[in-house]
Amino acid sequence: MTKLKILFVCLGNICRSPLAEAVFSEKVRKAGLAEEITIDSCGTGGYHIGHQPDPRSIAVATAHRIPIGHEARQLRKSDLRSFNYVVGMDDQNIRDILALDRAPTAEVVKMRQFDRLGPNLDVPDPYYGGDEGFEQVYQMLDRSSDVFLSYLIETHGLDRP
Ligand code: 4NP
Repeated sequence: MTKLKILFVCLGNICRSPLAEAVFSEKVRKAGLAEEITIDSCGTGGYHIGHQPDPRSIAVATAHRIPIGHEARQLRKSDLRSFNYVVGMDDQNIRDILALDRAPTAEVVKMRQFDRLGPNLDVPDPYYGGDEGFEQVYQMLDRSSDVFLSYLIETHGLDRP
């Protein structure tokens, strides 16, 4: 079976999307689906290429016992042809993704369209705020990841072991 490829996208690829990658990866691993789903993240901007996640994203992931580690990279047009789903964190991300490729073969979705508490709101950029913003981002990603994974399992007929 070909792997389903999921790409999480934010602006800098140091705060939100590497945390989304970590949170979603842990749920995929716990569901026994690691062999069936490939997960990556990137940023629409290039300011932090090669950087590890922001220490505040590492701290919140660690507090929730989630392994995290990612080297920031920038979104490229080929991602929109090679991934099955490209998941933006906010409306500006979605605009920037679609500006790169008007006819992506990837399905471009917004993270919080899967949040049962805040459908289609943004995952706000926590970079210039305090630590509590990172915990709130984590909670949004945690809720949205549950529904997104169930959606993928149902849509693609993935087998739980
Ligand atoms: P992220 O947060 O998009 O969640 O990684 C940001 C990190 C850095 C910057 C903006 C947003 N920046 O402008 O440097």
